[in-house]
Amino acid sequence: MNQAHESRLIVGISGASGVVYGVRLLELLRNAGVQTHLVMSKTAELTFAYETSHKIDEIKALAHTVHRPGDMAASISSGSFRTMGMIVAPCSMRSMAEISTGVTTTLLTRAADVCLKERRRLVLLVRETPLHTGHLRAMTALSEMGAIIAPPVPAFYAKPTTLEEMVDHTVGRTLDLFDIDVGITHRWGEQDESRRRPPERSKLVTNTKRESP
Ligand SMILES: Cc1cc2nc3c(=O)[nH]c(=O)nc-3n(C[C@H](O)[C@H](O)[C@H](O)COP(=O)(O)O)c2cc1C
Repeated sequence: MNQAHESRLIVGISGASGVVYGVRLLELLRNAGVQTHLVMSKTAELTFAYETSHKIDEIKALAHTVHRPGDMAASISSGSFRTMGMIVAPCSMRSMAEISTGVTTTLLTRAADVCLKERRRLVLLVRETPLHTGHLRAMTALSEMGAIIAPPVPAFYAKPTTLEEMVDHTVGRTLDLFDIDVGITHRWGEQDESRRRPPERSKLVTNTKRESP
């Protein structure tokens, strides 16, 4: 019996601000031995260039398998390719809107659609502000379909002192949704014994540009 799908996770990175969330996810999942299937939209490559000072190949090297956003024949476009589900981090309003309608034009949104139809876990780190009613309606529809809407909103009770700690908290809580504990989450009521020594960050995460357009 092949149980490989139990450690397979799709990571989508779309063109919203916050590419660092996707990068950190890939890094932590690699350390945790999870087989990641990355699909990055064309605009995500643009935001990556704006928000970091690294080469796109460096992020792709963190994934087990990289799929082109236009490759509709990729493994992850079929429900017969079993996975634990998918995280889109960050998730743009454009990709979110496509996923909410089922009218999918990219591999990223198709793979998310597959997770919904197969009743697999789909977590969307939607990022935009402020939100109009159309955005909010799309989020409601997605939640009704079983997706988890998880905007990357920082938690100040963890008393973060760096941007990296804020990112780690959000990423740790996202992985909680898949029962993956990489020891980076500050858990309320458990004090600091719940946190193990955090896995080291690559330069991709620590050396992000501070300014955003
Ligand atoms: C630097 C930059 C930051 C952006 N930030 C956001 C954002 O936070 N949220 C969003 O929904 N769109 C944002 N956009 C716009 C999206 O990239 C755009 O809507 C694009 O068509 C999304 O396509 P995708 O979902 O296929 O990546 C941003 C664009 C750029 C260039």
